[in-house]
Amino acid sequence: MMKVTKDTRVLVLTGAGISAESGLKTFRDAGGLWENHRVEDVATPEAFRRAPVMVWNFYKERWQQALQAKPNPGHLALAKLENWLQDNFHLITQNVDGLHTAAGNKRVIEMHGSLHTCFCTRCHTRFPMKDINLEEDIPLCPKCKGMLRPDVVWFGEVPYHLDKIDALLHNCDVFMVVGTSGVVYPAAGFVMTARYFGAHTIAVNLNPMENSEFIDEFYQGKAGEILPRLIDEWINSADK
Ligand code: APR
Repeated sequence: MMKVTKDTRVLVLTGAGISAESGLKTFRDAGGLWENHRVEDVATPEAFRRAPVMVWNFYKERWQQALQAKPNPGHLALAKLENWLQDNFHLITQNVDGLHTAAGNKRVIEMHGSLHTCFCTRCHTRFPMKDINLEEDIPLCPKCKGMLRPDVVWFGEVPYHLDKIDALLHNCDVFMVVGTSGVVYPAAGFVMTARYFGAHTIAVNLNPMENSEFIDEFYQGKAGEILPRLIDEWINSADK
């Protein structure tokens, strides 16, 4: 087990699994989002061009669910870790539910965007979702009346903040992956990059992962049970 101190640079990547215990569906587990929706119908630019109302209905529903969800002990443990490590901590999330920020994390990189914002397809202005009239089938831009779209990165689009993420991957001592199936790139490749540049890699996941050969320490189980224990162990043993 890696010894983590306040000087250890820890970079965390999370996926839908960390929000499962907050009641939000993952994508590829049984009963997951992709079991009831075809990605091609709701999470691609082509789908939005072809059927914007269907796409908006899918994201309006997910936003409402995210509003009902609360951070779980897994989220709270990562907030405690950032509070302990401060600038030596960074968190990349594939999730768009906003629960890491709600848990108190500050250094959060939302590489797939957020359900809590949308932007205009014409003037590209961003708006908080809570300020938009979602009664309209296709919400229109308050500034230019263009079509608004969810601020979520769709398949075939480039994730946000990749330059910043790349720099962090080259400069971390521990790279911990939590609650992701490790099948969607570029996020799925981050563990290889981090390991190549010398990081000790840790994974916390309910099921075995696709890219397990790049994982030095694997904890199988629920993030909400494992993360609090693991992070308390780091903090308590470092203070000795
Ligand atoms: N604790 C830890 N891991 C869990 C838990 C839990 N309580 N519940 C589920 N998991 C694990 C599952 O075993 C699975 O490996 O979380 C993982 C979730 O995988 P996916 O559903 O594929 O979600 P994710 O990896 O985040 O998907 C990546 O794909 O659809 C796109 O843009 C979407 O960001 C998403 C990306």
